[in-house]
Amino acid sequence: MLTLGIETSCDETGLALVNKGELVAHVMVSQVDLHSLFGGVVPEIASRVHLEVLPSLLETLLQRAGCTLQDLEGIAVTRGPGLLASLLIGLGFAKGLSLGLHVPLVGVDHLQAHLLAAEMQQEVEYPCLGLLVSGGHTHFYLIKSWQEFILLGRTLDDALGEAFDKVAKMLNLPYPGGVFLDKLARQGKVDKELFPRPYIDNTNLDFSFSGIKTAVANYLQKNKHLVFPGLKEDLKLDVVSQELKDMCASLTYSLVEALKIKVSRALKNYPVKGLILAGGVAANSILRKEFSLFLEQKNLKFWVPNKELCTDNGIMVAYLGEKLLQAGYTHGLEVDAIPRGRTVPRDYKIN
Ligand code: KG4
Ligand code: ZN
Repeated sequence: MLTLGIETSCDETGLALVNKGELVAHVMVSQVDLHSLFGGVVPEIASRVHLEVLPSLLETLLQRAGCTLQDLEGIAVTRGPGLLASLLIGLGFAKGLSLGLHVPLVGVDHLQAHLLAAEMQQEVEYPCLGLLVSGGHTHFYLIKSWQEFILLGRTLDDALGEAFDKVAKMLNLPYPGGVFLDKLARQGKVDKELFPRPYIDNTNLDFSFSGIKTAVANYLQKNKHLVFPGLKEDLKLDVVSQELKDMCASLTYSLVEALKIKVSRALKNYPVKGLILAGGVAANSILRKEFSLFLEQKNLKFWVPNKELCTDNGIMVAYLGEKLLQAGYTHGLEVDAIPRGRTVPRDYKIN
């Protein structure tokens, strides 16, 4: 069922075509350069850019796939959680296409789409755990089947990606800084005692990353020489001090350990086949490597999408959308957008 996926929940405009679970073509416009000047996503700019680029992106996508609008059999769109104004642009575009082409529409949960993207590349077995770590969310699920997500825990404050990005900002690295910290940490030596493993002295499965951010701020206050004097747009790794690389490695260690502790805790209560790691921060090379070893030691499977599929994209939306449509789930034109912090309801129409 040739399904168009539309992703506009944050600062990436992504469109993709998926058929029978396989990628046909995809296109994407990232607004990173626009927002990096402001040190974070500016919602009004993001939604305006989505509005501007969607029509030409769709044209490019159809050209790449060698098909026409009339070939589309389903429209899937991210309905949340995300930036409200950005979501509304995608939803309006999707509704117009669905109405004009007389094809079914389905609104997709962005977080579930991130996690189920793993299915496109590997045979995922259920039940499994799902750890979604992105710039806006850190959600931990028990996934009983592709349709049954039980939320076990979530961050109480910053998302994991947000913690990386805020530390990068303190260092004067451009937004989003997670990828720069990854590069620096790879060349650093870990000091396990430098930062605390955040929010582990409890019995729950929630996360909190604001404390470690403060710990880094205090460390940088005492070590001002580690902060770049102005916005460092062209980061050359060979001129960065070993001390800063070590700090990034130690920070990453503490964050990854905190995740491992919560996953170990969940494994005691839930017999699962393995774990899906997804979301933008799942592109982090140390996190991927550490989790792969950690799950192997526990004799569990580990599924993680390739890096391109980890960050926001239209492919995951088209993939989950096609699955939903084929299972008979659709939405009417009244389907609404769900802002950050709210849970996307399962309010499908069932055919
Ligand atoms: O999933 P995503 O593209 O957008 C949201 O839905 O939030 O995630 C973006 C986040 C940003 O915080 C970015 O810094 C982080 O993913 N990120 C990384 C890496 N690549 C992207 N964080 C750590 N290491 C990376 N390699
Ligand atoms: Zn995302």
